Amino acid sequence: MTTWTEEFRALEPLCARAPSPHNAQPWTLRFSPEGITVGWAPERSLPVGDPTRRDLLLCLGGYVETALIAAADAGLAVRAEFAVDDEQHSVARLLPASDRYRSDFTAADVGARGCARGAYLPGRLDAEQLGRVRAQLTATALVEVPARSLAALAARSDRRLFSAPGVAAELRTWLRLTPRHPRYHQDGLTFRALAMSRVEAAGLRALLAARASRPLARVLAATQAGLLRYEGSVLVLTGDPATPEGMAEAGRDLVRAWYALARQGLSVHPLSQLVDCADTERELRHRVGARPLAVFRAGRPSPSAVPPRSARLGPRPPAAAGH
Ligand SMILES: Cc1cc2nc3c(=O)[nH]c(=O)nc-3n(C[C@H](O)[C@H](O)[C@H](O)COP(=O)(O)O)c2cc1C
Repeated sequence: MTTWTEEFRALEPLCARAPSPHNAQPWTLRFSPEGITVGWAPERSLPVGDPTRRDLLLCLGGYVETALIAAADAGLAVRAEFAVDDEQHSVARLLPASDRYRSDFTAADVGARGCARGAYLPGRLDAEQLGRVRAQLTATALVEVPARSLAALAARSDRRLFSAPGVAAELRTWLRLTPRHPRYHQDGLTFRALAMSRVEAAGLRALLAARASRPLARVLAATQAGLLRYEGSVLVLTGDPATPEGMAEAGRDLVRAWYALARQGLSVHPLSQLVDCADTERELRHRVGARPLAVFRAGRPSPSAVPPRSARLGPRPPAAAGH
């Protein structure tokens, strides 16, 4: 007889459609007869770009939420218990439950979600669209601001961040600027996902190769600033989690917000740099009157800028608990 953990293995490719910073897919699964431990691979975290591990915990919380949706959709009764253990690099356990996890989302929503970083059609989200997203939040709140009002702030955060020591080097590890990159179909950020042309990608490769951090910061900042100068919405997820477990819970809200947008045909473009840079974080906090945890453009991608589906790692060898 197959156990629920064995059945869960078939769902791994679907769970892996969860979003992750730089598409590094840091999650790990350790199987034992009692349950599945969700953890992270330190080499797939971003110690330079994400030193507080805010994005890592948001991502892992989002992964757990996605796993619960996938399990419920497959008829498995599974629940999650969060406990972050830094030594074991673990964040939560998936355990058998008496009922299936209740969610408004299905495997189809998980499969349909994706980031879009190119041009969006003009138009702000209306109260009804925002209401459907807010209905999914349990630990956080959501503030909508006009995209244009953050263009200058985003440009400043980019310039600061990309000229900070180590950030460009870390980014280089995860950029896939040519289809010939050996990991182009596995992980990282492809130039197509970044809405870059081949020529732009070649230019960026040259700057990265020359370790020309100043021009690089300027080029990256210029691209982002242009992207916010339109009539559109930026959504700020706010909250003030006091523990790592609380941050992971906020990550569950974050992906539910993204699934709720995807259900409405809306894509997101995360702008974490606004929260990563202390100076712009302070200003954003002041503007929205709460601590920003995640920031993203939301809207309908213009038909000429439909993004490709992002890559994922293939099946990973199963790890037994305690290894
Ligand atoms: C916590 C978190 C932070 C992220 N921050 C950024 C960001 O600052 N800029 C960006 O372009 N994408 C960001 N992303 C999106 C990831 O790059 C994206 O999820 C990944 O490349 C996989 O692509 P997909 O979401 O289209 O499947 C973030 C994702 C997560 C979960």
